[in-house]
Amino acid sequence: MLVTTKELFKLAYGKYAIGAFNINNAEQAIGLFRGAQKAQAPIIVQISRGSRKYIGVSMIQHMIQAAAEMYPDVIFAVHIDHGDEETCYDAIDSGFYSSVMIDASHEPFDENVAITKRVVEKAHAKGLVVEAELGKLGGVEEDISVAEKDALLTDPEEARLFVEKTGCDSLAVAIGTSHGAYKFSGTQGLHFDRLAEIQEVLPGFPLVMHGSSSVPEEEIKRINAAGGAMDPSARGVDEDEFARAVPLGVTKVNIDTDGRLVWTRVHREFFRDEPAQFDFRKPGTIFMNEYADFIVHKIKKLGSYGVLPDVAAALK
Ligand code: G3H
Ligand code: 13P
Ligand code: ZN
Repeated sequence: MLVTTKELFKLAYGKYAIGAFNINNAEQAIGLFRGAQKAQAPIIVQISRGSRKYIGVSMIQHMIQAAAEMYPDVIFAVHIDHGDEETCYDAIDSGFYSSVMIDASHEPFDENVAITKRVVEKAHAKGLVVEAELGKLGGVEEDISVAEKDALLTDPEEARLFVEKTGCDSLAVAIGTSHGAYKFSGTQGLHFDRLAEIQEVLPGFPLVMHGSSSVPEEEIKRINAAGGAMDPSARGVDEDEFARAVPLGVTKVNIDTDGRLVWTRVHREFFRDEPAQFDFRKPGTIFMNEYADFIVHKIKKLGSYGVLPDVAAALK
């Protein structure tokens, strides 16, 4: 059942977070829905501009539709990840998505407000909801000055003003995470103090954590043992920190990189161990199962494992 992220956030706030997973191919679509079904949890299916370009707008949408038909009990939102204005309007007009993210965080504050407000007006008119972003996503080194840190992390008062001016439905905040496999160097992590300050000025308002892959050391080791050359010092977000972020208003946690690592590990190990093989359906089958297990694992860490019956009852 397709729902909006807003409906999911209302039920989740303060209790658990909903996993938002980026997908790019059919194996991921099947693995994601299979995992959600197994975990009995709602999910957010995320489509980036890169994904739409890679596999085609129509193809990615039909794959999601097909996966939803294969796993009819799953409750999900379909969401544009890091959209620009053009992509958001295209998604809003298509009738396929239930929510969009407008990412104008690279613009000065007033311009970010103006762009986000335009998208919110168009989305709300058609029953879609909007995630926006404020702050600069990026690892915050331990030894940088307070002023430098402030320039990167989302400013609480600006966040309050931004939500008031734009009418957005959720906000991606910069609290020390960054995208990709190489996030943290040295010892640093999530800035819970900043998250708490943001929640204080936006009580009950859904916050979103991007760049939330954990980049498991074991996964990197296995990829490298099977011929990969990833930086072995790669570190991500400690999965156990999700439980600390949830009471502070985080209702959506974005994960892409860790899923790519599962794909890379499965395929590298398969072809290392079976060098004469060329039937890609064999590693594809392993991947779909492993990706489903990976989704179940993340959902457990996010605290949303087993909530599906309650969500279904509340949305009836
Ligand atoms: O935040 C970015 C997501 O991981 C999507 O990545 O633009 O390469 O599809 P992508
Ligand atoms: P990761 O690169 O940490 O998986 O972050 C994904 C993300 O934020 C997608 O918007
Ligand atoms: Zn992101």
